[in-house]
Amino acid sequence: MFGEEYSDKVIDHFMSPRNSGILPDPDAEGMCGDPNCGDSLTIYLSVKDNIIEDISFLVYGCVAAIATSSMTTELAKGKTLEEAAKITDKDITQALDGLPENKLHCSALGAEALKDAINNYYVRYRLK
Ligand code: FES
Repeated sequence: MFGEEYSDKVIDHFMSPRNSGILPDPDAEGMCGDPNCGDSLTIYLSVKDNIIEDISFLVYGCVAAIATSSMTTELAKGKTLEEAAKITDKDITQALDGLPENKLHCSALGAEALKDAINNYYVRYRLK
């Protein structure tokens, strides 16, 4: 169905995305869109004592965009804001056991939307 290019982990996260949907009362949200392919991702954060207590996402995109969004939330959950801000597209790709060359850019959506959400959290709660 998906060809042989996707790892088992990518297919697993595509078929059963973790943390999908909108948090009821998020502390911050962040977005990233790729104008070339049209895919876009929004990440929602719930933060307590500087820790990402809950996180969710809504994505419009390809198989890899869904899987990388899901993995992004798994990697970020339970981390401090500073730790989560350091998650890179390479971390996300590695955690999924790799992506096909033409799908590497999909992991950037997760890393960038997460950073955007963290920045928006800082703006909302710390820079007042
Ligand atoms: Fe662009 Fe997947 S094809 S994010």
